[in-house]
Amino acid sequence: MGLLSVGDFSSDDLKSVIQETARIKGNPPDYSSRLDGKTLVLLFEKPSTRTKVSFQAGMFQLGGNIIHLDIDRSQLSRGESIADTARILSSYTQGIAARVYEHSTLLELAENSSVPVINALSDLEHPCQAVSDLFTIYESVGGFDGIKVTYVGDGNNVCNSLILGCAMLGIDISVASPQGYGPDKGIVNKAGKKVEVLSSPEEAAKDADFLYTDVWVSIGKEGEKEERAKAFKDYQINKELLQHAKPGCRVMHCLPAHRGEEITADMINSKGSIIWTQAENKLHAQKAILLKLLG
Ligand code: NVA
Repeated sequence: MGLLSVGDFSSDDLKSVIQETARIKGNPPDYSSRLDGKTLVLLFEKPSTRTKVSFQAGMFQLGGNIIHLDIDRSQLSRGESIADTARILSSYTQGIAARVYEHSTLLELAENSSVPVINALSDLEHPCQAVSDLFTIYESVGGFDGIKVTYVGDGNNVCNSLILGCAMLGIDISVASPQGYGPDKGIVNKAGKKVEVLSSPEEAAKDADFLYTDVWVSIGKEGEKEERAKAFKDYQINKELLQHAKPGCRVMHCLPAHRGEEITADMINSKGSIIWTQAENKLHAQKAILLKLLG
């Protein structure tokens, strides 16, 4: 089993990984030898801070090892195929975590690998982020019943995985994106009635328990910076938008943040912000994912 999409987990799997995350966070030393002798290879085509370091620290804290394969210095940069690379890496290690531009690269890696492949972000999904975010929601309010999550901004990888994960746990999610920047249609269809796709951030934010956003310009979209700045100018988490949400609404962002674009600086450090806890939780959640897939 790998994790290319949140939907690769069943709802029960997802719930049990979230519960395991809580146990790991509560008592890290109990897990210090659970992946003894296991190795994970990190194959990253795109920049990364949180995901890369939390995978690496997480593997070490579970007793395992990491090999970081610098793509520019590997034979991939000289034309060796993904399929051949997957086959070889599977014979040396117990798992591959890959961050890639095209989701199809992950499918090819997984098809040719005999060890679990973990999506550490692609153009379509960011499942590890969603698992960690759902744990953060669970930790903040103690459950998932009667909760509404609102995502404002680009219907990107982070948004797609959040939609799927919320639907799997019975959480209502409203998404507000400008025309042409909505979430993936296949994912919206899969999520069914739990997701509402709108264009008005105020309407989407109504009665929200959690307000979530991500950058307007994801990695690889830098060439669209100007047109995106115009399209997204009204899609910002700020004090005014928060007034449409429920009192006590929490603010979330997967980071990195662009203050003054998708979120104002005051919201990041506001009383309702759980952004820093959300970032810390990537470590705990990824350890639970590693245990589930490599344990
Ligand atoms: N949507 C962003 C997430 C970064 C963690 C990107 O793909 O760049």
